[in-house]
Amino acid sequence: MEQTEVVKPETLDELIKILHKIFESDRINVEEVQNIMESYDSNPQEWKKYAKFDQYRYTRNLVDEGNGKFNLMILCWGEGHGSSIHDHTNSHCFMKLLQGQLKETLFEWPRRESQGEMAQKSQRILQENKVAYINDSIGLHRVENVSHIEGAVSLHLYSPPFQTCQTFDQRTGHKNTVTMTFWSRFGERNPNENAAPQENN
Ligand code: SIN
Repeated sequence: MEQTEVVKPETLDELIKILHKIFESDRINVEEVQNIMESYDSNPQEWKKYAKFDQYRYTRNLVDEGNGKFNLMILCWGEGHGSSIHDHTNSHCFMKLLQGQLKETLFEWPRRESQGEMAQKSQRILQENKVAYINDSIGLHRVENVSHIEGAVSLHLYSPPFQTCQTFDQRTGHKNTVTMTFWSRFGERNPNENAAPQENN
């Protein structure tokens, strides 16, 4: 496999520029993207303008549209906030911890509709600056901030971008298609996003 040199991004803006370059190509090297995102040292001064918390649910805050190749967003997880079990609509999902910790629980796809309790594959705690990767062939996941004392902030890259995903009921395996929305776009509160996001209940 072609070995690419890892350039360390010194700032979030620099990371975004490098990502634009990488995603000019139609073939994505998962390890390369993971390494680049991991080598950026989280600096709250650079991302705090996107980090908008809500009292009740995690928020999705759009940072960059990646020339249509990817969406880069910051998710803010208050104490005890978590996502539903969901898929990634045939996209790559990279998730870097900018602050705090998140628990990721991996599940098998249900074998059939209403199969009963979904099978759990693994669980891990994601630490600051680390980058997790998932796609639909790996499985489904739920992400949670289990802390009762601090919020968590994560940087997500989805490629290609997607607007809907499927969420799953852990007890039955029953699925629903939901539309994903942004709490803010480019640092500004999204006026169209009044309803609670459906994927984070
Ligand atoms: C995730 O994929 O882990 C978070 C879900 C989301 O993008 O809302």
